[in-house]
Amino acid sequence: MPAIVIIGAQWGDEGKGKIVDHLAERAAMVVRYQGGNNAGHTVVIGDTVLKLHQIPSGITRPHVAAVLGHGMVINPPALVEELDILAAEGIPMDNLHISPSAHVVMPYHLRLDALEEEMRGAHALGTTRKGIGPCYTDKVARRGLRVRDLVDPDRFAACTELALERVNRELTGVFGHPPLAVEEIVDAYAPAAQRIAPYVEDTGRLVHEALERGETILMEGAQATMLDIDFGTYPYVTSSSPTAGGACQGSGVSPLAVRGVIGVVKAYTSRVGAGPFPTELLDEMGDWLVERGHEYGTTTGRRRRCGWIDLVSLRYAARVNGFSGLALTRLDVLSGLEEIRLCVGYRLPDGTVTEHYPADADLLGRVEAVYETLPGWQGEISTARRFEELPRAAREYCTRVATLLRVPIDLISVGAERNDLIALRWPA
Ligand code: GDP
Ligand code: IMO
Ligand code: MG
Repeated sequence: MPAIVIIGAQWGDEGKGKIVDHLAERAAMVVRYQGGNNAGHTVVIGDTVLKLHQIPSGITRPHVAAVLGHGMVINPPALVEELDILAAEGIPMDNLHISPSAHVVMPYHLRLDALEEEMRGAHALGTTRKGIGPCYTDKVARRGLRVRDLVDPDRFAACTELALERVNRELTGVFGHPPLAVEEIVDAYAPAAQRIAPYVEDTGRLVHEALERGETILMEGAQATMLDIDFGTYPYVTSSSPTAGGACQGSGVSPLAVRGVIGVVKAYTSRVGAGPFPTELLDEMGDWLVERGHEYGTTTGRRRRCGWIDLVSLRYAARVNGFSGLALTRLDVLSGLEEIRLCVGYRLPDGTVTEHYPADADLLGRVEAVYETLPGWQGEISTARRFEELPRAAREYCTRVATLLRVPIDLISVGAERNDLIALRWPA
């Protein structure tokens, strides 16, 4: 009964969607366990490009049960939009299951996200403005609305009315924003609630039964380790737990059932939004990575900040998640460089160099990356399907990353398309 967790090892957009789509071929179920439509997971199958935000990437495989777990925060109208897009692509949706305990992103969460960002001014976090932080805030404050409330029209109206009593005081008192009306929200969400209702069922039980049958379950992380509310670069983080512990918490899979934890690692680093980023390249090299890698966000279209691979923070990610294997992605983007740099240490403000991620993440904004340099390689590598087919320098780069992280590589992705992949070993 192997459960395998797929986790972003950096600051997101590592290519989790592509890796999940690949592994789903041999899985019975894929569960998204946290986050909402702040995520953007791209799956490319031939000429078809699917951008998934709330629905797990396993939906691309008709035999796979796709589960939106109770750890998620769900935006109903956005989910319906996604259902429509997938339906238009001819993807069957009869194997989709939504937890009644997942929380609902309400219209006021979106407003509050934007208003809070504006209030932060120069200290803005650069959120996706999808209402994620305010929705998780309500969850933890025990005043959130859940999917089970959404799909019962009377209950939804009553819960919304109760919530607005507090929310409108905050909107008008703190932000000088006009109050919201219950009917407006109820009318806006009613059609989505109706569409979603048939998919709502006890996903905890589905997960448990699949494990009992000995089936393989993938747990699809959104966001990433360095955006984790506890382990990330707080406060420049998201409001959920993308890391391995969060996978169990948000899906209902026991930690004892987890057989593999795959860290998805981009061959360089990118970050969207504000916050420290020791290997960020603010020069022509950074621009080169953005253009060559088309590094613009799937969800917000923002230009992603780019830099070299950071093995100090990756070692930390390997530690907090217990990676059993790596999926190294976007190796092809690095083709054409004379040399490639790997951050192997941080120079602290007092001049000492450390290989350890600082316990005080505030320091991260003040460290200087210390690099090791490896030779680059020329020519496109997207057609490689076996490790031996990669240029020697590319092989050395992969081996060096695995050696420094002390984690074996399971998969190497060499292009966006589903088949642009070198599978080295099955992860669990
Ligand atoms: P996710 O959020 O981790 O699922 O990643 P995104 O989908 O937001 O961003 C990754 C982008 O890289 C998407 O456009 C993918 O189609 C693309 N991609 C994934 N793997 C590779 C790869 O190995 N090479 C290239 N060139 N693109 C890739
Ligand atoms: P995937 O799953 C990259 C970032 C935002 C911002 C911070 C908080 O596609 O890897 P939020 O809206 O979550 O409150 O924003 O987190 N962020 C992401 N960055 N990929 C993502 O998802 C992200 N989801 C959130 O840019 O810095
Ligand atoms: Mg993404």
